[in-house]
Order: sequence, then C-alpha cells, then structure tokens
Amino acid sequence: MRQRHIRNREEILKDCGEYLVQDPRSLRRQWRSAFGKEGPLKLEIGSGKGRFITQMALAHPDENFIACEGQYNVYPRILQKAKALELSNMLLLGEYIADPSDFFADGEIDGIYLNFSDPWKKRTANRRLTYRTKLEGYKRICSPGAVLEFKTDNDDLFEFSLEELSAVGLTPSTVEYDLHASEFAEDNVLTEYEEKFTVIGSKIKFLRVYLR
Ligand SMILES: C[S@@+](CC[C@H](N)C(=O)[O-])C[C@H]1O[C@@H](n2cnc3c(N)ncnc32)[C@H](O)[C@@H]1O
Repeated sequence: MRQRHIRNREEILKDCGEYLVQDPRSLRRQWRSAFGKEGPLKLEIGSGKGRFITQMALAHPDENFIACEGQYNVYPRILQKAKALELSNMLLLGEYIADPSDFFADGEIDGIYLNFSDPWKKRTANRRLTYRTKLEGYKRICSPGAVLEFKTDNDDLFEFSLEELSAVGLTPSTVEYDLHASEFAEDNVLTEYEEKFTVIGSKIKFLRVYLR
C-alpha cells in the first residue's frame, strides 16, 4: 500500500503520541504492563489505516490490542482513529516486524490477526506473512489456546497460506471461501481493503487456526 506523504504527520504524532510506542523492543515481555490493565493481548500485523484494530478495541474493552504497521505515512491514521475513539486498550508498534521475537517474548501474545497484509509476489514468498518461518515465529510468541485469523481476497495467497500451515503441522479450525456469506459474517469487522475488494465483487477468504 503506497501512500502519499502526510503533510501534518508531525502534528498528528504529537497530538496522538500517547498511542505510539516509542521503543517497542524495550517492551518485550512488558506489553501487559504497558497497557496498565489486565486482559488478553491481541496483535494485528499490517494494520494499514487501522479501521479493523480500532473497531476491535472499541468492541472488546476487556482485551488489549497492539496495532503493527511499518509504513510511516500510513500509521498516523491509526493514531488519529484511536484518539477519536478515546481508546484505552490499543497501542501502535510503528515498525515492520520481520521476526516477532524481536518485540515479543515467548507466549506473550494471545491472538494474531493478519488482514490483507501481504501482496502476492512470487519472488518474495519468504516475506509473506503466512510463510512457514513466520508461522513458526507466531507460534513462539503465542500463549496456549491463541488463535490466528487471516483474511484475504487473493485466492493464490489463501491456498499458499493453507499449504504453509500444513507444512508446520497446523490444521485450521475454520476455512471459509466466502466470509461475507458465512456464519462468521455477523461478527466480522471490516478492514479498509476488505471494503474496497468487496465493492468490486471479490469474495473474502477467511481462516482461523489454533497456533498452540
Ligand atoms: C494491503 S495493506 C492492508 C491493510 C489493512 N490490514 C487492511 O486490510 O485494510 C497491507 C499493510 O500491511 C503492512 N505490512 C506488511 N508487512 C508488514 C510487516 N511485516 N510489519 C508491519 N506491517 C506490515 C503494509 O505496510 C501495508 O500497510
């Protein structure tokens, strides 16, 4: 997702600074205390402009949410949304995550969301967020019972992701090829990309898998 420069970026960071984690690596093993309140700790990698994660935080005040977005011209939009909603259970990690263990200790996270988070390019298979080594990394940082949820409009990426799960010995508990026509539609929180693809008639693929 290429984005134009945000002219008032510095102003946004200043106004909404309480949501941006300044040194996310230093919070490794400390994320729970960073929120100042108990509750399951959920992570979205590739939050984009943040509609999904901010709406999830709003809908689940008893849980804590970490938005992760590496594009510095995109993540200010997440901060603005969090501020407008006066969220007290969302923080932003404004970096690209390559190895999640750089930021999170073993067993620290209770659930992971990947939403349209990875373009389909053949030569970059090992950088896809559902590549097998990434899945192994998610397993490491997740607590027993943690669930990974993945949505995409892309058929090839979805099939690839199912194969990668299988390669690391994981079997999804849910696989839907048309999320919006499924029983999960009611609780589904739309992302910006999801809306865009739905409008042009793409079917949204969805899977849920216990990581541990
Ligand atoms: C196609 S956009 C989707 C955004 C949003 N999830 C949605 O559905 O509207 C993918 C986003 O994931 C981010 N992203 C991809 N890999 C990432 C990583 N390893 N760490 C952090 N952000 C990442 C990109 O910068 C981009 O903004």
